[in-house]
Amino acid sequence: MRVDQLLSHFGYCSRREAGLWVRRGRVSLEGRVLDDVGERVDPGRVTVDGEAIEGPEGLLVMLHKPAGVVCSRSDGEGRSVYELLPGRWSQRNPPVTTVGRLDRDTTGLLLVTDLGDWVHRWTSPKHHVEKTYEVVLDGPGKAEWVDVFASGTLRLEGETKACLPARLEWVGDCQARLHLVEGRFHQVKRMFSELGREVVRLHRSRFGSYELGDLTEGTWRKLELPSLDRLAEAG
Ligand code: URA
Repeated sequence: MRVDQLLSHFGYCSRREAGLWVRRGRVSLEGRVLDDVGERVDPGRVTVDGEAIEGPEGLLVMLHKPAGVVCSRSDGEGRSVYELLPGRWSQRNPPVTTVGRLDRDTTGLLLVTDLGDWVHRWTSPKHHVEKTYEVVLDGPGKAEWVDVFASGTLRLEGETKACLPARLEWVGDCQARLHLVEGRFHQVKRMFSELGREVVRLHRSRFGSYELGDLTEGTWRKLELPSLDRLAEAG
């Protein structure tokens, strides 16, 4: 990859600005300061301002989304999860994006990545990636809802196709743990709404094999990139 391509690809500056970065001696290849934006380099061996290129093979992070922030980038909708992440990640090409979305008031595990193939596999119901939600309801639920959720017959208002079977566990009179393999719009809230209950708190604790654990709200940590073998296995 050319040096100017590299700087813009990884979000450091535009291709036009790359000449200035190089002239200022900010870019090196294994200790040799580069002076030609057209030189072809291996991103894994380049440093910018003395630091290795971040995520030369891609980025994957787990964010503990707090309540009150939205998953979209668009202005006018309030504070965005992207404001909790380094700005350069959004300047990359492709930029990082959230793997699916959580509602503004939902907290918990959100994956953020620039690995487009994985976004597709993780969000497609066809691939059955199970997500776990901790749910607090506005009143007690019923034991038999476990079977209703598992039946694959629960239909959301305005939709013709029933939800795929989901696993519900009661952890208190008004508290449940729900495991879903799809991610329809407001799905958890709408499923309980069909049964006459409102979700008053919603928190995602697991996404596939990733567990939120004790990650502090509002912070993120990098994850190892899944291997290409796993991508093939995931279908
Ligand atoms: N289901 C919902 O209703 N909201 C979310 O944020 C996630 C799943």
